[in-house]
Amino acid sequence: MANLSFIFCEILMILATILLVVEPVKCYSKQHKALFVFGDSLYDPGNNKYLNDTKLKAAATMWPYGETYFKHPTGRVCDGRTVSDLIAQFAKLPILPPYLQPGTHRFTDGANFASGGSGVLSETHPGTIRLRLQLSYFKAVKESLKQKLGDEKAKNVLNDAVYLFSIGSNDYFSFYQTYPNASQFYKGKFVKMVIANLTSVLKEIYDLGGRKIALQNVGPLGCVPFMKAIDSKLGSACADEASSLARIHNRYLSIVLNKLESHLPGFKYSIFDFYNAFADRVNNPSKYGFKEGKAACCGSGAYRGGKCGWTTINGTKLYQVCSNPREYLWFDGAHPTESANFQLAKLLWNGDPKITGPYNMKQLFKL
Ligand SMILES: *[C@@H]1O[C@H](CO)[C@@H](O)[C@H](O)[C@H]1NC(C)=O
Ligand SMILES: *[C@@H]1O[C@H](CO)[C@@H](O)[C@H](O)[C@H]1NC(C)=O
Ligand SMILES: *[C@@H]1O[C@H](CO)[C@@H](O)[C@H](O)[C@H]1NC(C)=O
Ligand SMILES: *[C@@H]1O[C@H](CO)[C@@H](O)[C@H](O)[C@H]1NC(C)=O
Repeated sequence: MANLSFIFCEILMILATILLVVEPVKCYSKQHKALFVFGDSLYDPGNNKYLNDTKLKAAATMWPYGETYFKHPTGRVCDGRTVSDLIAQFAKLPILPPYLQPGTHRFTDGANFASGGSGVLSETHPGTIRLRLQLSYFKAVKESLKQKLGDEKAKNVLNDAVYLFSIGSNDYFSFYQTYPNASQFYKGKFVKMVIANLTSVLKEIYDLGGRKIALQNVGPLGCVPFMKAIDSKLGSACADEASSLARIHNRYLSIVLNKLESHLPGFKYSIFDFYNAFADRVNNPSKYGFKEGKAACCGSGAYRGGKCGWTTINGTKLYQVCSNPREYLWFDGAHPTESANFQLAKLLWNGDPKITGPYNMKQLFKL
């Protein structure tokens, strides 16, 4: 019923807007919960297109990125939708546009701040929208909602919203590439610093009104085609040193989220075990309907781990591309295909507690 009255209100507002009777105000339905997305390239819907750095701008704005779903490059490093796009659709929300996209935004649906290459730490890939900057954008969204809806309603939107994160991989890629032989002690120290910064951002979101946090943990970094292409000694194996950073991170992450839940009244969370879900697909692609789990669909060199989409000035392709991305787990040297994302998003949405817990996202949206 609430949905019907919401639709009715929407139709009225569209008519009112056409007739210029009232200023276009947005309808707020109790059932309608917002999704705020923070993160890296796995969730970036094209924010990097609006950055000043020309290299960051160029990545993923070339064909064949976007070929299967959007039919044109959007800035997503995927042939189609990302996990965060799919989660928005599962939650009956529109796909969230890049926060930096000019024009009007409907923040009662949420916003997507994710930026390819970004990390938790400010030192990771300067020029991207690092996590703290994403948080400051979120603060601006809160102010905009307060102006539009008033303090009370804005507070309700933020309380009811779900906050989704994919962050950390780039901090560890950078660390691993700088210190490939770091000691166990030094690795532990670095992970603690990343987790401490991430925790402080989560606490600020709580202070700003956020109550429901969902995170996908850090994946098996050493299995990424571009990492394997760098280290030819590995053969077809994954670079375990890189993956070990992800495993330490993921262990701390579970502990920290559990602590937050016990300290912060009303705080609820999901952690999606992306690491194990993805590693299992790399090792047993056929079990999940993929023909290829190691090499990318699009790229160059070993495992097609090199850049996808690049051409010379005269248009000569510097990469190969597969004919059917559905057969592949990886679309390019570091990112899953849409068909892999679909499986991952389903696990995040309503996976059982072994893979997504203590709540899954479907449950978080219902709370
Ligand atoms: C890009 O540069 C302009 C001019 O210096 C600045 O105003 C703008 O905020 C920058 N954009 C981003 C996303 O950093
Ligand atoms: C790391 O250790 C390996 C041997 O385990 C060695 O071959 C390599 O040169 C070392 N790399 C650096 C940057 O120290
Ligand atoms: C966050 O990371 C910075 C390095 O970027 C570090 O100096 C700082 O101590 C960290 N903050 C916390 C709360 O650990
Ligand atoms: C385009 O340039 C490459 C070198 O960058 C050259 O090898 C190739 O022959 C050129 N192709 C055409 C069609 O001119």
